[in-house]
Amino acid sequence: MKIIACYSNKGGVGKTATAVNLAYAFAKAGARVLLCDLDPQGASGFYFRMKPSKRLLDEAFFKDVERFAKAIRGSDFDNLDILPANLTFRDFDIYLSRMKHGNARLGKSLKGVASDYDIVLLDCPPNISMLAENVFQAADHIIVPVIPTTLSERTFEQLLDFIDEQAKSDRKKIVAFFSMVQKQKTLHVETMARMRDTYPERFISAEVPFSTDIERMGTHRAPVATFAAARPSAKAYDDVYRELREHMDKEGK
Ligand SMILES: Nc1ncnc2c1ncn2[C@@H]1O[C@H](COP(=O)(O)OP(=O)(O)O)[C@@H](O)[C@H]1O
Ligand SMILES: [Mg+2]
Repeated sequence: MKIIACYSNKGGVGKTATAVNLAYAFAKAGARVLLCDLDPQGASGFYFRMKPSKRLLDEAFFKDVERFAKAIRGSDFDNLDILPANLTFRDFDIYLSRMKHGNARLGKSLKGVASDYDIVLLDCPPNISMLAENVFQAADHIIVPVIPTTLSERTFEQLLDFIDEQAKSDRKKIVAFFSMVQKQKTLHVETMARMRDTYPERFISAEVPFSTDIERMGTHRAPVATFAAARPSAKAYDDVYRELREHMDKEGK
């Protein structure tokens, strides 16, 4: 089982769109996939027509493999299960920080379902906190959508620093790609060139364009490949999927 986190320290960059489309791509290719919606807003669950769970998260939830497994739901797609958001995930940080070895807890509960899944995707909320440390420890790979604006450069640098210094994790886990790209904007083109230059190892070549097809996922409540497979944004997410697979093979993970 491999754990892939969709993460950014910024909101609204396309983490959820990425989690949803990658989960679908892995499942379609035959992998058994669990998508965990760790954002209390429950957006990735929404795209798969799930309601956030009202089940209260208490200290036992991530410790008790049986309860964790019971909260998992099937989706409309083969090989693709969802752990719906829990409305109390927003208190998850506090709860983790209270616990000893809190930052290994998520990894432990995921190990409990390791034989049931090949790929676990984590759709994360946008913060650097205890949850982020947890995620960085547990994840084999961290996929980071980056909108190519000036502010993103700083944010990305902060993320790398955080991984090195606080999470004591490995930069090599980071697989970044440009999201919501508008090639007609000079700023986007220049920022992408500069960031590719500064972080040649971290960015894959796939670029997801700014596209109404992705926005329409909200009305279809489905991955883009299910209703607009031939469109550029669906192809771009397929490229992200394929490059991520290559990266995983290369890393031997
Ligand atoms: N490539 C894209 N083109 C246009 N809109 C996008 C794209 N990716 C995401 N969006 C839209 O931007 C908003 C934020 O995306 P989302 O995936 O929810 O980001 P995050 O999870 O990082 O907050 C959503 O309304 C989504 O439909
Ligand atoms: Mg989100």
